[in-house]
Amino acid sequence: MLQTESLVTKWYKAFGITHVFHDIEHTAFTEEKQAKITMSVENKLNFTSLDELRQAVFNLDFPLKKMARHTVFSDGNPSSDVMIIGEAPGQDEDEQGKPFVGQSGKLLNNMLASVGLSRDEVYISNILFWRPPGNRTPSAEEIAFCMPYVEQHVKLVKPKVLLLLGGVAVKSILNTSESISRLRGSKNTYMGINTIASFHPAYLLRSPNQKAVAFRDFILLKKTLLDK
Ligand code: URA
Repeated sequence: MLQTESLVTKWYKAFGITHVFHDIEHTAFTEEKQAKITMSVENKLNFTSLDELRQAVFNLDFPLKKMARHTVFSDGNPSSDVMIIGEAPGQDEDEQGKPFVGQSGKLLNNMLASVGLSRDEVYISNILFWRPPGNRTPSAEEIAFCMPYVEQHVKLVKPKVLLLLGGVAVKSILNTSESISRLRGSKNTYMGINTIASFHPAYLLRSPNQKAVAFRDFILLKKTLLDK
């Protein structure tokens, strides 16, 4: 077994990552995993177009990919002022190769419509590009592997507002261990871009009484867009 601290430090150096994942220090890595990861982080990422980034993501080699049917990169309008980031593809997304196309996606579409935004006019992606088996929560290692690509993704789309859905997206992007309940409804920034955190639609499907609270976040999203 290897000590994770040195591996993590290596990643950060390789990518020039400003993030530190709070729980990653507690994760143990095997030498085999380290070899794969080291190979894929040899150079600091610096893609110049979305096509180039998409191609690189599709060419990635990672254990999760082997268990998934599709790599799920994005959907929607890449020139949009709004970029939405969720957690990871679920079963429907894995089958169709597009983010937020299942029940959560339907609710997301309705919430967008409630503030006058159509799905076609926003841009949607996730922290992970592959479905974790059984829709389990992504591990710190999986998040750390994808984050440099997510960072490039946001940099290339350069939206006016980033809507972060659920704890995994919020904690990964904002580099915090604060809970989504504390962070939702507040505005922060990521690489100079306004971020708004809200509950994940899957959580809202399980807890419909929180929909009214989440609706306030979508109003804030709309207001932030109009303010610009
Ligand atoms: N949940 C997510 O976080 N992303 C999807 O694409 C689908 C469900």
